[in-house]
Amino acid sequence: MTDPSSDLAVNRAVWTVINEEFTDERAHDAWAARDFTWGLFGVPERDLGVLGDVADLDVIELGCGTAYVSAWLARLGARPVAVDLTPAQLDTARRCQELFGITFALIEANAEEVPLPDDSFDLAISEYGACVWCDPERWVPETARLLRPGGRLVFLTNSVQVTTCVPEQGGYAEDRLLRPQRGPARVQWPGGGIEFHPSHGEWIRVLAESGFVVEALHELYAPDHAKTPAYYDIATAEWARKWPVEDLWVARLTSGSPRSSTGT
Ligand SMILES: C[S@@+](CC[C@H](N)C(=O)[O-])C[C@H]1O[C@@H](n2cnc3c(N)ncnc32)[C@H](O)[C@@H]1O
Repeated sequence: MTDPSSDLAVNRAVWTVINEEFTDERAHDAWAARDFTWGLFGVPERDLGVLGDVADLDVIELGCGTAYVSAWLARLGARPVAVDLTPAQLDTARRCQELFGITFALIEANAEEVPLPDDSFDLAISEYGACVWCDPERWVPETARLLRPGGRLVFLTNSVQVTTCVPEQGGYAEDRLLRPQRGPARVQWPGGGIEFHPSHGEWIRVLAESGFVVEALHELYAPDHAKTPAYYDIATAEWARKWPVEDLWVARLTSGSPRSSTGT
């Protein structure tokens, strides 16, 4: 039996180190980027059209890191609120807010228990945030509680293919299956944090149990010109041109959906 509070402590410690090694330095360029792109290989949103018009939407970003996704959404006219567990990541986000003159609420919280009222948002988004680092059985119902009926949940996470092709000891995905798909979604790579990688069927079950209907699953490949990312050793560009490296889910909360136990 795992202790969720120790998972939080491990993940906060991991992200404090990653902030020092990489994300703090990278944040300026990410905030400065004018195009909304998805994932490790920068697939343009204009090619996918996942978000549609976000102007005037209340948006919550769950596991925002340095909050560049929220900054892009703010530039498009949305009203983001960004939640993250790790103070160092939020400190970087705060510095970028001042530098770029884009401000929105930054909340230090566990995305499985967000201290905000029910029915507050039109769109919930997570790019490698809560959708990787939180237990789906907890953050998905919590997101349903936060969304208004008809609201959307959009999240990008590692593909099922890539998580089954990464060696047990971590490192770049290989061109064969190296890990079982069957078994618990909870994974800890050596020296890494605690992640959750459900199968497609499990995602659909968890989403449906919280009242979401899946509208799309975009399987993202690296664009032709893309280069292998410098810091995250998950998949090379060559690998990601052949197999989907990321799953981008779009789900809508149906009205009258079941609510989490923390909801009213
Ligand atoms: C990969 S970053 C996501 C941000 C950004 N989109 C990116 O790709 O760099 C993952 C973030 O999830 C946060 N995180 C991990 N566990 C969390 C939790 N339980 N609640 C909220 N945020 C969490 C970490 O602190 C980290 O900043």
